[in-house]
Amino acid sequence: MKAIPYGRQHITQEDEKAVLEALRHPYLTQGPKIKEFEEAFAAYIGSKYAVAVANGTAALHLCTLAMQVKKGQKVITTPITFAASANCVRYCGGEVVFADIHPETYLIDVLSVKKMLEGSPRGTYAGIIPVDFTGRAVDLEKIRELADEYDLWIIEDACHAPGGYFIDSKGSKQNCGNGNFADLAIFSFHPVKHIACGEGGMITTNDKGLYEKLLTLRTHGIIKDNTGENYQNSIKFAGGKEEYPLWYMEMQELGYNYRITDIQCALGLSQLQRADEGIVRRRQIAERYFEAFKNEKFIKGQSGVVAGHAYHLYIIEVEDRLGLYNYLREHHIYAQIHYIPCHLMPYYRQFGWKEGDLPNAENYYKHCISLPMFPTLMDVEQEFVVDKVKEYYG
Ligand SMILES: Cc1ncc(COP(=O)(O)O)c(C=O)c1O
Repeated sequence: MKAIPYGRQHITQEDEKAVLEALRHPYLTQGPKIKEFEEAFAAYIGSKYAVAVANGTAALHLCTLAMQVKKGQKVITTPITFAASANCVRYCGGEVVFADIHPETYLIDVLSVKKMLEGSPRGTYAGIIPVDFTGRAVDLEKIRELADEYDLWIIEDACHAPGGYFIDSKGSKQNCGNGNFADLAIFSFHPVKHIACGEGGMITTNDKGLYEKLLTLRTHGIIKDNTGENYQNSIKFAGGKEEYPLWYMEMQELGYNYRITDIQCALGLSQLQRADEGIVRRRQIAERYFEAFKNEKFIKGQSGVVAGHAYHLYIIEVEDRLGLYNYLREHHIYAQIHYIPCHLMPYYRQFGWKEGDLPNAENYYKHCISLPMFPTLMDVEQEFVVDKVKEYYG
């Protein structure tokens, strides 16, 4: 049996063709593929706007900039996520406040967020960054209710969940990142994610003002305006405001180069064609894991079969997780741990976070292990993984 990683990209001949075509096009970056990818992605997710960027972390940073996070402002997120979900607050000087997770969904616990909000003076928190961790959709309708009550903005970290959804209180399907509840949502196109661009990210929103702001911040805070109406300098040498020369542009605020290339977007577009297929296969794999483990005594919890789950990860919780992890590695099965709780990282400990602060997250971390989950995982490979897990506890 060949080595089995926990996640792997799938590159087809169509993908290769699309990238080659992009390489032969005059624009390697700032060309037409970017808008094409943005429009196709917005249509897939069901949002009005999409802004493609260099990676998911850049997407998060642009979002905290767009929401104008300021020094010392408090923002709530989950500790069971990749560090970037929290770090984007720190990039702007904000303070990260971790809320505990729900022990069954592993998502930020809305009740614990509610308690935090109720127990603090109004205005203590500026925003919240819920994460669709593992591909399971956060109930954003509930979070929106709280956010409206306490005047918070929402940035949905949907890196794990393109194609995921939850059902709202009216029975309607709400796609992760569709912008109906969150102000902004972000995605990553790192190769282990559903859509691989090498590196890449996307921001989705239904807010035109935020969309325009993000476009500017993505490219150094520079605007180019053919009408001239949005320029601030008055250009005397060109004979008045109406006569801005064609080469004219203005840098009106401090932005970044967080652009993605046309080559990456060509790959993303090609991958997007197979996104639904990938979810169907991920779901089959999840069902097979669930069936294989549902009656096993060594299982303390598992991702299970959940409607709307995009299954970026399939996690089981077990005793003696380290033993299992090492045993699987001996058999070339490279399971992973998602994640070491962010609040226990040395960087966040310096702000006073410590063991015992978030018991559900810490208990989850002691037992969790992510089993191989990617569309090209073959049935025989999955059976081998299941056999080895059972063998370890047998
Ligand atoms: C939940 C989550 N947020 C943010 C990121 C950051 O994305 P990227 O690696 O594209 O910067 C990741 C990627 O690992 C992630 O899993």
